[in-house]
Amino acid sequence: MAKLLSTRVAIVGAGPAGLLLGQLLHRAGIDNLVLERRPIARVLARIRAGVLEEGTVRLLEEAGVADRLHREGLVHEGIEIAVQGERRRIDFRALTGRQVVVYGQTEVTKDLVEARRAAGLPLLDEVSDVLPVDLESERPRVLFRRGGEAFELSCEIVAGCDGFHGICRSRIPASRLRTFERVYPFGWLGILTRARPVSDELIYAYSERGFALFSMRSPTVSRLYVQCAPSDPVEAWPDERVYEELALRVGPEVAARLERAPSIEKSVTQMRSFVAEPMRHGRLVLAGDAAHIVPPTGAKGLNLAAADVGLLARALVAFLRGNDPRPLDDYSERALARVWKAERFSWWMTSLLHKFPEGDPFRDRLQRAELDYLFGSRAQQTVLAENYVGLPLALD
Ligand code: APR
Ligand code: PHB
Repeated sequence: MAKLLSTRVAIVGAGPAGLLLGQLLHRAGIDNLVLERRPIARVLARIRAGVLEEGTVRLLEEAGVADRLHREGLVHEGIEIAVQGERRRIDFRALTGRQVVVYGQTEVTKDLVEARRAAGLPLLDEVSDVLPVDLESERPRVLFRRGGEAFELSCEIVAGCDGFHGICRSRIPASRLRTFERVYPFGWLGILTRARPVSDELIYAYSERGFALFSMRSPTVSRLYVQCAPSDPVEAWPDERVYEELALRVGPEVAARLERAPSIEKSVTQMRSFVAEPMRHGRLVLAGDAAHIVPPTGAKGLNLAAADVGLLARALVAFLRGNDPRPLDDYSERALARVWKAERFSWWMTSLLHKFPEGDPFRDRLQRAELDYLFGSRAQQTVLAENYVGLPLALD
């Protein structure tokens, strides 16, 4: 016999989307319970991207979890693009009047988990066999197991924040669900090192040898990436090879500043663009990677998840407290309007800066023309800048 639990919003997934939604709902006085399949310690150990748009920072402030971010986050007013060693700065402040904050997603997740624990809110980790049911009724349920026991969680809304490999998206009937996908013929090999970054700002490098990215987590921790084959195991990339490629791809001036410290984390990231429509079915709503994936080139993954949650939290407050279903009815369409613009930008920036496998000379010439145009056009630099800092968050 299953143990019976009840809440108003069942949140599946304790990544940034689920935790931020839980925090915003709590501050609006709406009970919620988070279910997470991994041990929370594993969730907190994940190394992910680290560029926050101003809209994301505002949502974290609204959630009451931005104090450390304001103390430790690094404000960046531009990035550099390097093409075969020649560099051009994209000045966000001059072109858009805006900026981004560099602050690891790992830290965002830690801040959200700490706030949830401090508020004594339920977060059940190491759950299994999660199954949302009765999603077209007014009392959906989530079945799951934990500690060898069966549970039945009754609720009013199921928020699928369980990422690309989660269960919730599959609970939308195949007859209603439409998916769109593009898989790229390369991946990113990323390392974390305790070394001073080569620059105060991020450097995105295009070269005939492939893409490279010089990012950071703090003034003493660097986050470095090189384009690799999607099937490359991390073993194919000893530190020496990573540093050699980083140096060759960015050019001698920056390479001279590259501190070759031992990597303390190394992983390969696959590259895909993916969107699932709609982001709602009955009492199930999707947010974050459960509904969409972007290649990391545009640093949009976390920011898109936050934008979904900003819209969704407002819609759920209207529905559950204001008895107004309209914002929830509009959620999927409004979220997808932003998602597709971010998908376009992430695809464009990925196509601009990566070396594609041989075989399409016309495509290669277009890419070089696109890079030349970017370097010479304030208009095109403004397009890159306004998408990178984030399109306005129209939440109300
Ligand atoms: N039951 C419970 N939890 C689940 C299930 C399940 N069936 N399936 C997955 N999860 C959990 C995962 O363990 C993970 O902790 O859901 C969480 C989803 O978190 P993310 O994948 O981080 O997705 P999201 O919260 O949308 O954040 C998107 O995270 O992965 C990055 O690049 C991505 O920056 C983006 C951000
Ligand atoms: C990172 O710091 O991990 C990072 C930064 C910018 C990106 C992708 C990843 O576009």
